[in-house]
Amino acid sequence: MENALLWIEEELKLIKDKQLFRVLTELQSGQNPEVLIDGKRYILLASNNYLGLSTDPLVKEAARRALEKYGTGSGGSRLVSGSLDLHRELEERIASFKKTESAILFSSGYLANVGTISALVGPGDVIFSDELNHASIIDGCRLSRAEIKVYRHCDIDHLGYLLSKTSSSGKRLIVTDTVFSMDGDIAPLPELVELAEMYGCMLMVDEAHATGVLGKRGSGATEYFGVEDRVHIVMGTLSKAIGSLGGYVAGGKKLIEFLRNRARTFIFDTSLPASAVAASMAAIDIIESEPQRRDYLWGLINRFKSGLKDIGLSILPSNSAVIPVLIGEAEPTLRFSILLKEKGVFTPAVRPPSVPHGKCRIRATLMATHREEHIEIALSAFREVYNELFVNP
Ligand SMILES: Cc1ncc(COP(=O)(O)O)c(C=O)c1O
Repeated sequence: MENALLWIEEELKLIKDKQLFRVLTELQSGQNPEVLIDGKRYILLASNNYLGLSTDPLVKEAARRALEKYGTGSGGSRLVSGSLDLHRELEERIASFKKTESAILFSSGYLANVGTISALVGPGDVIFSDELNHASIIDGCRLSRAEIKVYRHCDIDHLGYLLSKTSSSGKRLIVTDTVFSMDGDIAPLPELVELAEMYGCMLMVDEAHATGVLGKRGSGATEYFGVEDRVHIVMGTLSKAIGSLGGYVAGGKKLIEFLRNRARTFIFDTSLPASAVAASMAAIDIIESEPQRRDYLWGLINRFKSGLKDIGLSILPSNSAVIPVLIGEAEPTLRFSILLKEKGVFTPAVRPPSVPHGKCRIRATLMATHREEHIEIALSAFREVYNELFVNP
């Protein structure tokens, strides 16, 4: 028994030697602008709770009421154990939010991507995937057993070239994050739509980090670019700006009926609990009706980015609440993050496999619940760490 698992020890040693070992940081509080770690307060620059909705009183109240009425778990998959009226109501709400005919819920964004891509394409089909797409898209592509052609990040010419050279008679799918999770930049959606239409391809987008942040109504990049009716498959998550848990796909009625019948991560997975569903509905209402939260967040984003640039730090060309400060190798990036924590700022060092080797970064994320003082204190900490590590080491 012991011997059979010896390889794990060796593997762990390798991970540690490369400075890629991961540990969990335990929080004793919710995803607030300040969090408690070991009883001490830190400014949180690490959450995807972009609008602060996971701790919003109205959202929590909606979850509490649903919890009282329906209990904790949903009891099984929707096709077997019965689907809650709340599941249908949230799907209708998501469809109206994303301006599509219909929508389907999954238990997470990860499961939405994996189940949808593997249902839509298979052997004999071809997927065109941006090289920086999220792991859940990559896993969905692999699971599908379709041929995968990876195009250079946001490079429309490269994608066009690959499309022009592909003569397969099978289905074709272009898939991309709209806001890239580790870089924070935005995919060139209008150009992607044009290419998809020109080549008769399906186009699938992942709005995980765009929802709540982009667009006047906050519904994401399809709204921001005005292409809501030209993207076939719009995937998103309920776990970031929406502040809860779960994933979804929005699109035409037939697409959603098909996924209900073919997406294995929908069919064979226990459905979302009522409390998470109700919280998401309340959060979407707030996202649509309170654009001032988004405007305030954008003010913070612009101030933080200009402060980081003044310090001399290198920020990747982000255009969202994800602000990546490029450091390079794993060791100094980890050191940067540790020193920031010593100065009261909790923000993670992102290393491979989340990002390519040599492109390790501090991934700072902002929330509409941060106050301006938080940003100024965080900037002072970044300045001190930058000076300690790179100016007067
Ligand atoms: C771009 C992207 N897609 C999908 C997911 C998965 O969503 P979830 O966390 O709801 O499983 C994430 C989460 O990190 C993400 O960043």
